[in-house]
Amino acid sequence: MYWLGVDVGTGGSRALLIDEAGQVSHAFTAPHHEMTMERPLWAEQDPADWWAASTQAIQGVLQQAGIAGDQVRGVGLSGQMHGSVLLDAHGQIIRPALIWCDQRSQNQVDAINAKVGREKVLTYTANPVLTGFTLPKLLWVRDHEPANYERVRHLLLPKDYLRYRLTGEFASEVSDASGTALFDVVNRQWSAEMIAALGLDASILPRVHESIEVTGTVSPAAAQATGLLAGTPVVGGGGDQAASAIGNGIVSPGIVSCTIGTSGVVFAHLDQPNFDPLGRVHTFCHAVPGKWHVMGVTQGAGLSLQWFRNQLAPGSSYNDLMAEAATAPAGSQGLFWSPYLMGERTPHLDPLARGGWIGLTASHRRAHLIRSLVEGVSYSLKDCLEIIDDLGAPAESVRLSGGGAKSPFWRQLLANIFAARVTTLESQEGSAYGAALLAAVGTGAYSTVPEACAAAIREVESLDPRSHESVSYQRGYEVYRTLYPTLKPLYGQMGQA
Ligand code: XUL
Repeated sequence: MYWLGVDVGTGGSRALLIDEAGQVSHAFTAPHHEMTMERPLWAEQDPADWWAASTQAIQGVLQQAGIAGDQVRGVGLSGQMHGSVLLDAHGQIIRPALIWCDQRSQNQVDAINAKVGREKVLTYTANPVLTGFTLPKLLWVRDHEPANYERVRHLLLPKDYLRYRLTGEFASEVSDASGTALFDVVNRQWSAEMIAALGLDASILPRVHESIEVTGTVSPAAAQATGLLAGTPVVGGGGDQAASAIGNGIVSPGIVSCTIGTSGVVFAHLDQPNFDPLGRVHTFCHAVPGKWHVMGVTQGAGLSLQWFRNQLAPGSSYNDLMAEAATAPAGSQGLFWSPYLMGERTPHLDPLARGGWIGLTASHRRAHLIRSLVEGVSYSLKDCLEIIDDLGAPAESVRLSGGGAKSPFWRQLLANIFAARVTTLESQEGSAYGAALLAAVGTGAYSTVPEACAAAIREVESLDPRSHESVSYQRGYEVYRTLYPTLKPLYGQMGQA
């Protein structure tokens, strides 16, 4: 018997099978088209592309494992959060989704704050409303594309569009719904207050479940498209971060995870829904029923490296870049990277923040550029850790995952910059693995999520900070922290120039 997790990422959709021991058996990724970025701050993807890639990935993994759909006991979904999938009365896609890193909706955020009240938004949803969240994206469409808005009958998150195509159900679950700015995170239901204050039609919102609950079953049409068996249960799953935290075993206080994908996320479990009064980190429902989590997000983590490779080192692999970076000294001889290529969430909440190197001299080589970039992203992740620590979720150790954690160089650098032990797990799989574990819990293979994690997840590496480098990075961090406030007055003007 197997369980399937499917993750709708930004770059691609990944399907992953686990076996009865909760171990990864096979995985298959199908790429998406590049996101369209028609203007600065805009980022869109076509949900039909996610479905096409997901069906390809599911077929691919079944084929790779040499099994038929009847061996899959349950399916769990995860995906990039916050995107706005807009469907009409016939379930057709109205326009491309504005995805998580789209930052165009500042006017709508201001309008929500003016109408509802900033304090009340925090009380109703446990978070401030941010340009990246779903609600202001919906309102952007209302304000700029009224003909499209009028046709909206369903608002779905990316993975829930996949659920709709798999099961015909309009449903979501608490962890992903938390990132819409329309969800009462404390009470784990849509916020009647937000909906009323903004005069929205609540019928466009999907039904919300806990992450392990069965939300529907694979339809005959979806069975044909994917190779799964019609009637296979599909559980709620989770937003990619909550699902990835399940895959990383972050289901009790003390261990914090740091996942470096396109964005970078520091994630901690909470037994109670504490939130930052400044809203610099997100407090969302966890994919563990009745629990919450807090997370800080660096928008341009792996993205910084991807941008560097595409623009300045075409043809190089990430391994090449890391090997080159390692030839420059710690601290990159005073060169700093601001990783704000797509604005920033934690700690600045500033969509206008911009990226760049500060401190270049003629003696810097390309290796310094790369190393400083890795250091800048790591400092930004340290900003997240510091706030989470202040919220009462201190890290005894930090579990690393995502593409960035594949590099031993970056892992040691993170230990040094965090001044904390970092660990890695036997399975480096994040969200799709967590989604598969949620499917196993939801279909009765385990009785609770922590029980599944305890049975399936094992640490394999543990790195302590090297004290000399760690001390010099603490000085570097102080300098890094002065860069944003110093440059902030310029960012708004740059956008106008
Ligand atoms: C989480 C977030 C990203 C996206 C894309 O708040 O925006 O993790 O889900 O991965």
